[in-house]
Amino acid sequence: MKRILAAIVALWVVVPALALADDAESWDKKCASCHGKDGKGKTKMGEKMQVRDYTDAKVQDAMTDDQLEKGITEGVKEKKMPAFKDKLKAEEVKGMVKFMRGLKGK
Ligand code: HEC
Repeated sequence: MKRILAAIVALWVVVPALALADDAESWDKKCASCHGKDGKGKTKMGEKMQVRDYTDAKVQDAMTDDQLEKGITEGVKEKKMPAFKDKLKAEEVKGMVKFMRGLKGK
């Protein structure tokens, strides 16, 4: 019984950690070319496109989760942020929002 409990606890700890790793991987692969691995947007593309610094609390606080989600899903045409609705599932978009929130203050 103790072993089963230990296994359940282990899963409960490991699975969310893996999910987070996935988000970080997606960020690196799909977003970092413009937004930078650290979210500051200090990449060649990012500077050219004037992406905001998503580690800045002011930038983060000015946006709701819904806005972030919509921006990722549908893109921001006038600013050339690409739409990811064909590349990310709804829950993956939510994961990206969570990941971006984690960049705040870094
Ligand atoms: C081709 C470059 C590029 C890529 C790749 C890219 N972005 Fe962006 N993104 C931009 C630009 C440009 C903006 C608009 C400037 C800004 O708001 O910082 C933007 C804005 C955003 C916004 C704010 C949307 C809004 O409503 O203002 C979010 C959220 C975002 N990006 C998330 C992501 C995520 C998550 C990924 C990867 C899945 C990603 N971006 C990939 C260029 C890019």
